[in-house]
Amino acid sequence: MLDLIVTHAVLPDGRTDMSIAVQNGRIVEVTAGLAVPAHETLDAQGLLVAPHFVDPHFHMDATLSYGLPRVNESGTLLEGIALWGELKPLLKAEALIERALAYCDWAVAKGLLAIRTHVDTSDPSLLAVEALLEVKRLVAPYIDLQLVAFPQDGVLRSAGGVDNLQRALDKGVDVVGGIPHFERTMADGAASVKLLCEIAAKRGKLVDMHCDESDDPMSRHIETLAYEAQRLGLQGRVNGSHCTSMHSMDNYYVSKLLPLIAGSGVSVIANPLINITLQGRHDTYPKRRGMTRVPELMAAGVNVAFGHDCVMDPWYGMGSGDMLEVAHMGLHVAQMTSQAGIRACFGAVTTNAAKVMHLGGYGLDVGCDASFVLLQARDPVEAIRLRATRLKVFKKGKLLAETPAATARLHMTGRAEATSFMPPRTGV
Ligand code: FE2
Repeated sequence: MLDLIVTHAVLPDGRTDMSIAVQNGRIVEVTAGLAVPAHETLDAQGLLVAPHFVDPHFHMDATLSYGLPRVNESGTLLEGIALWGELKPLLKAEALIERALAYCDWAVAKGLLAIRTHVDTSDPSLLAVEALLEVKRLVAPYIDLQLVAFPQDGVLRSAGGVDNLQRALDKGVDVVGGIPHFERTMADGAASVKLLCEIAAKRGKLVDMHCDESDDPMSRHIETLAYEAQRLGLQGRVNGSHCTSMHSMDNYYVSKLLPLIAGSGVSVIANPLINITLQGRHDTYPKRRGMTRVPELMAAGVNVAFGHDCVMDPWYGMGSGDMLEVAHMGLHVAQMTSQAGIRACFGAVTTNAAKVMHLGGYGLDVGCDASFVLLQARDPVEAIRLRATRLKVFKKGKLLAETPAATARLHMTGRAEATSFMPPRTGV
């Protein structure tokens, strides 16, 4: 007998009345209308079952520290970096771990079961690295946590930057990070990209750099990153995070850059909530949105994902681990309001993000892990519109979290008794 069967589900690709059969934590069958006995049956009642959400860009060492030791008064990226510099020497591993674990609880409740987090390697004590390696171990039963060695102060700009990063990788950090636009000069930035990609190639690691996170139309580190990915045979293993300068670049240059990125197999992560709040800060009006060129990158064949980046930290005081909120902002900022565009935004926080992280067993196909979410929505478009309630969250066939349906009781004569904000499916 099966362990679990989910019936009457809508899948993200539009298939309806689908059944998902689960045995030993894996999906063993996905078919229309299957009804076979199982130890547990879940009737999805025509609602969406999606693979779990994936956040490919986060900073878990800073999360939930909002207000410590003070709030970011200007709300800018640079004050955020300065504030993080003030907080770092005060950090205690225990408190950092407690905040990270609390965030992971939020994540599970929101169906977010894989997170790539950058961890600052600038401090020679590597306190944050040790703390997040411990968090990774603690949350392993329910969250795939991937760590990126992130030299926040610049791998070349800060004393001991290369050594600290190498020691973090020795300790088991998964991915090589960088921040070329924060090095002293454009030339140093390019040198850091080359150096870090070579370290990754030598160690067999993936690469994920904060790349051109500025409004500078002349910032060119994504070009160098794509070049190095190709030169070192790292196609499909390198990601450029943010790439906000692309928003401001000359269109002719971008027409040359897009095929270069696509050809080098470099993926791109936009962080819509953070880009829309931190970029364009030097502008009066009109103010640039600052997010990278998401639809154009997608059209060029680049794998584009959305990250949350920050939740209640020195850079951003909002957020709750909700990747549908990220997708919602992404589609607004990128004006991806076509049906295909909205679905692509859903993909940016699920399948595309899983591809960036090289997650194994991800998806709703036979053989994949039975790690999925039942949403209070009838399709991905409605899921984003409502930032839909995660009714049930499963990890390898095991129920991890439940949230009651969001339904308002109405007390009006002659009208419905309740509404869940889903329009009636009537004809014209
Ligand atoms: Fe970031």
